Amino acid sequence: MKVTVVGAGAVGASCAEYIAIKDFASEVVLLDIKEGFAEGKAMDLMQTASLMGFDTKITGTTNDYSKTANSDVAVITSGIPRKPGMTREELIDINAGIVKTVSENLVKYSPNLILIVVSNPMDTMAYLAHKATGLPKNRIIGMGGALDSARFKYRLAEALECPQSDVDGMVLGMHSDTGMIPLTRLATRNSVPVSNFLSKERLAQVLEDTKVGGATLTKLLGTSAWYAPGAAVSSMVQAIACDQKKMFPCSVMLQGEYGLSDLCIGVPVILGKNGIEKIVEIPLSDQEKETMEKSAAAVRDVNGLLN
Ligand code: 2OP
Repeated sequence: MKVTVVGAGAVGASCAEYIAIKDFASEVVLLDIKEGFAEGKAMDLMQTASLMGFDTKITGTTNDYSKTANSDVAVITSGIPRKPGMTREELIDINAGIVKTVSENLVKYSPNLILIVVSNPMDTMAYLAHKATGLPKNRIIGMGGALDSARFKYRLAEALECPQSDVDGMVLGMHSDTGMIPLTRLATRNSVPVSNFLSKERLAQVLEDTKVGGATLTKLLGTSAWYAPGAAVSSMVQAIACDQKKMFPCSVMLQGEYGLSDLCIGVPVILGKNGIEKIVEIPLSDQEKETMEKSAAAVRDVNGLLN
C-alpha cells in the first residue's frame, strides 16, 4: 500500500506520522511545494522509526508528482488553514485553485487512486475534486465527519465524566461551525442513550461545543488543529488499506441518498478497499431531516462560489 500525502504542514505531517506508527502501509510519500520541506519532514519522521517501531518508508518530494506514481490512496491537505475568527468557507478562493491542480496532478500519475480531501471548505473541495478528476464517486472521500465525531465523543466523555471508549456518537452534515449535525439523539454510553445521563441543557452544550470544535482550537493555537485531523485521516486510510469495512461519517457525493443530489456532505459510509463501499442511510427524525436540508443548502451556497 502506497499512500501520498500532499501538504507537509502540520496536518499532513501528523497524518503521515500516524499512518507510519500504525504500520499498515509500505510507503508514504509526502509532497509539498516549499523547497526541501517535505524531504525534511520525511527525514525527521524516518529518524523516529527505530524508536517508534515501524517499517513504513517515508519519503519527501518538492512538487514532483512522478514520485507519487501508483499511489493507492492520496490525501490532500494543501491550502491555507484558517486563522482565528475566520470561517472555513472564507478559504475558498485560494484553496479551490490549489485543490484542483493537486487532484489533477495526482490522478495523472495514479489513475486508480482513492482520494481523501482534507482542505477547507472541505465539502466543497471534495465536490471540486469530483468535477476536476471525474473519478468514480466511491473514490473521493471528504474527511470531516470522522474528525467532528471524534470531537463529539471528546465532549460527550467530558460531560459524562467517563473514558471516551465508553461513548459512541456521530456527526453528519457540513464540516462547518453552523452546518454540523451532532446526532445527540443516537449518542450512547455503553449502548444506553446519553439522554439518560445528561440534562437537555448539558446535551445542548455538548452539541454547541462540538460544532465550534475547530474554531475553539484555532483560537487557542492561532491556526487550525492538526493532531485530531491527522488521526482522523489515518483511521480512514487504515480502513481502506486493511479493507476494514468500518463506518465513518464522511463527505461523499450523493445521488438521491438522504433526498439529496449533486453535492458532497457528511453521511455515514462504509470504508474498505474500494473506498466508499456503501452509503448507509439511517432514519432521521423530522428535526434532523430539516437540519440536514439546511446544512445541504449551506454547502450548495459555498459550491456556488466555485467558478
Ligand atoms: C478542523 O476542523 C482542519 O477543518 C479542520 O480542525
